[in-house]
Amino acid sequence: MIAREQWGSRLGFILAAAGSAVGLGNIWKFPYMTGQNGGGAFLVIYLALVFTIGISVMLAEFAIGRAAERNPVGAFAKLKGGIWPVVGFAGILCGFIILSFYSVVAGWTIAYIFKMMGGALAGSADDLGGVFGSFIASPVEPILYHALFMALVVAVVLGGVHGGIERACKVLMPLLFVLLIVLIGRAITLPGAGEGIVFFLQPDFSKVTADTFNGALSQAFFSLSIGMGAMITYGSYLNKKENLATSAMWVSGLDSSVAILAGLLILPAVFAFGFDPAAGPGLTFITLPAVFAQMPGGVFFGVLFFVLLAVAALTSAVSLMQPIVSYFADERGWNSKTTTVIFGGVIFLLGIPSSLSLGVWSDVHFIADKGFLDSMDYITSNVLMPLGGILISVFVGWVVADKMKEETHNDEGQSFGLYAPWVFICRFVAPVAIAWILISGL
Ligand code: TRP
Repeated sequence: MIAREQWGSRLGFILAAAGSAVGLGNIWKFPYMTGQNGGGAFLVIYLALVFTIGISVMLAEFAIGRAAERNPVGAFAKLKGGIWPVVGFAGILCGFIILSFYSVVAGWTIAYIFKMMGGALAGSADDLGGVFGSFIASPVEPILYHALFMALVVAVVLGGVHGGIERACKVLMPLLFVLLIVLIGRAITLPGAGEGIVFFLQPDFSKVTADTFNGALSQAFFSLSIGMGAMITYGSYLNKKENLATSAMWVSGLDSSVAILAGLLILPAVFAFGFDPAAGPGLTFITLPAVFAQMPGGVFFGVLFFVLLAVAALTSAVSLMQPIVSYFADERGWNSKTTTVIFGGVIFLLGIPSSLSLGVWSDVHFIADKGFLDSMDYITSNVLMPLGGILISVFVGWVVADKMKEETHNDEGQSFGLYAPWVFICRFVAPVAIAWILISGL
């Protein structure tokens, strides 16, 4: 057997996993979820969930992946078998669905690169809402950008784990980080921005409801890329030496930092321009161009920002595609290049109704009053991923805990200092808390 492809270094792995985690979830979804869920209290609950349940499930996924050196289905089959591989299948299906609408939104970021360059986003803050609304509602233009984005995903996956993903992440992720800080400098000094900072950082727990927990949990899963096996797949390419717990810490920390930076950028600007923080999915796309318009060199910063956001989305999208490809290649012996191209096409097709649901099909409802895109988002973020999280925790906590003790060794080869609390979270805390939040949200 030829050796399985591996990450070049620990840094390469951490950046690739962080590249999966950091994406539209941080910069597009997190600010509007925070806006819709009352601000500071959502942030506190979100971070609390990330650093207890989220990080534990991430470590569980890394450990499963590296112990088995397989795709999610094969990993469960190898470590235990029985009914368990179904969890891997559900994850692959989940990745499929997420990628279909993720790519639609990622297409908007590409479109905004060109709109920024062409001056279409130079109007007043009020006009920008109209520009965004009519763009996403149009039946053709966003679908073309969705196609372009899927083509890029296919191209990167064809380039292989090491060549494509790792190299791109090493340069571009730090650049995105720095750019966010530069932009925050502008946003928080806008007149009226202070109110947004207070909204974001000062918790008002009287606004907390079951929905706040549900929103924070589903956002944590989405943002950390956990609950569907993407991190199992990435862990499977990691060499045996590396310390998984430290890696999970780094990835969760980087992901949360980017979310906090995005909140500090978007929410102050929302208040400064008099937008509604609860406006929903358009928030980032409407607010940021208004910030760029107030900056010297705004077009330059705007173009750079949307390029980096598109790249961040690309590295995340690749991690949604990789489990699908590695499953068909490892388990079914399919040619991975053919698989990539075929599924790229199928996922593109599934994304079309998502895009149309924001325009011509806006009256067609699937789950409750939700259109197609919102329904796909709901099924994955609120149902499939939390369910996956429960099953992954139970698997690690109850079924293979002993094996995981060796797998989570530290740099000196000794066992992980927090092994007992981690297993306790996997056994009890995560399944019960996730189930409770899941059920209360339905
Ligand atoms: N975490 C990514 C983001 O925040 C999206 C993503 C990539 C994802 N891979 C995933 C979400 C796997 C869930 C599961 O944009």
